[in-house]
Amino acid sequence: MLHNKKILIGVTGSIAAYKMAILTRQLVKNGAEVRIIMTPDASFFITPLTLSTLSKNPVLMDNFDRTSGQWNSHVELGLWADVFLIAPATANTIGKMANGICDNLLLAAYFSARSKVVVAPAMDIDMYQHPAVVKNIQKIKEFGNHVIPAEEGELASGLVGEGRMAEPEHIVNYLLAHFNNAKKLASKKVLVNAGPTYEMIDPVRYIGNFSSGKMGVAIAEVLCDFGAEVHLVLGPNTMKPSNNNMQVYEVMSALKMQETCSELFPKMDAAILAAAVADFQPDYISDIKIKKQQDSLSLNLVKTPDTLETLSAMKKKGQILAGFALETNNELENAKQKLISKKLDFIVLNSLTDIDAGFGKDTNKITIIDPDGFMQTFDAKPKKEVAVDIIEHLIGKL
Ligand code: CTP
Repeated sequence: MLHNKKILIGVTGSIAAYKMAILTRQLVKNGAEVRIIMTPDASFFITPLTLSTLSKNPVLMDNFDRTSGQWNSHVELGLWADVFLIAPATANTIGKMANGICDNLLLAAYFSARSKVVVAPAMDIDMYQHPAVVKNIQKIKEFGNHVIPAEEGELASGLVGEGRMAEPEHIVNYLLAHFNNAKKLASKKVLVNAGPTYEMIDPVRYIGNFSSGKMGVAIAEVLCDFGAEVHLVLGPNTMKPSNNNMQVYEVMSALKMQETCSELFPKMDAAILAAAVADFQPDYISDIKIKKQQDSLSLNLVKTPDTLETLSAMKKKGQILAGFALETNNELENAKQKLISKKLDFIVLNSLTDIDAGFGKDTNKITIIDPDGFMQTFDAKPKKEVAVDIIEHLIGKL
C-alpha cells in the first residue's frame, strides 16, 4: 500500500497523458496523496479538471495563478514529495532535464526536488532510439533519476515498437516496490567507498588509476533507495552524488581514504568497499614541480595502507564487511584468496577481461563469493541493477 506516501506527478504533452487518469486513480486508491503539475501542452491531451477530480487536489500548470496573482511555489512542491513521478515524459522534457533548461513549473519543481525522481518516457519509436534522446536519458540516469523504460506495442503514429509509456499498473508496481524496498535497510548505517585514489608525486602530478567510481556510487545510491543512512567516501571523481540519506566525504589519497573510513566504521552496521585504492605511493612528495633536467627519473614507491584490512581488524560482532576484487587473471582464485586474507563476509569479483565489466563502463558482470563457498554469478547488467544484487546479498547477511 501507499498510505501517507506523497507522490508528485508531472504530466507532459504526450498522447500517453490519457493514461494518467487511470494511474492517478490507482495511486489514490492505494492510499497515496497525489498532487499534479502539468505542462501547458499536456492539457491538450487530458484536462486538468479530470486530474484534479481524481487526485482530489488542484492541478498546477503555471508559475503563478493569473486570477489571484498567487505564486505556485515549485520549491515547496519539490520538497513536499516522497517521489516525483514524471509521466509521460516527452523527449522535449527529458532533453530539458538533461541540460538544465527550466521554462515551466514542472521543470522548476524538478530542479528543486530532493526526492527520488522517477521518469516514464513516452514517444515514437524513432524518437526513442535517436542518439540525442538515448544520450539525454543516460544523462538523467547519471544525475540519479530512475527511468521506467518505455514498453513495446502499437504507437499513436501507427508504428509498432518501443516507445509506449509503461502501463499504469507497472508504474504502480514500481512505486510499491520502491516504498517496500525503502523499509528494508531503514535505521541501518552503511559505509561505502568509491573511485580511485591519487598519490601525489609533486604539486602537479599524481599516480592514479582508471576507476570512474560509478559502481561504488551506484551502490551508495541504491542503498539510499533501500532506506539506509549512507556514508560515501569518494576518491577524486567528476560525479557529485547527492541524496537526503547520503553524506559524501571527498578524499584524495589512500591514506586519507583509510583515515576517513576508519573513523566512520565503528558507527556502521556494514561497509562495502568498492574503491580502487592505489596500492603504492611515492615515498617522498616533492613540494615543488619536478623539472625535466635529467634524462630519466626514478620514483621509489612504498605500499599504501589497506583500508579493507584496517576495517577488518576493527570489525565488531554483527558488523558486515564486503570488498571487491578486480582481477585480470586467475580471477576466482585471487578473489577467494582476498576474501580469506581480508576476513570478509563476502567479496564481489569483477574481471577486467569481461567486455561488460571494468573501468568507466555503465554495466558490470559480477560473481559474489561467501566464506562458506557459496558463489553466485550474475548476468551483465547496468551498474544500478548490479548494486541491487549486491545489496540484496548484504540484506541477507544483516
Ligand atoms: N583495498 C583497500 N585498500 C588498498 C587496496 C585495496 O581497501 N590499499 C580494497 C579495495 O577497495 C577492494 C579490495 O581491497 O575492496 C581488493 O582490492 P584489489 O585492488 O582487487 O586488490 P588488492 O588488495 O589491492 O591486491 P592486488 O592489487 O595485489 O590484487
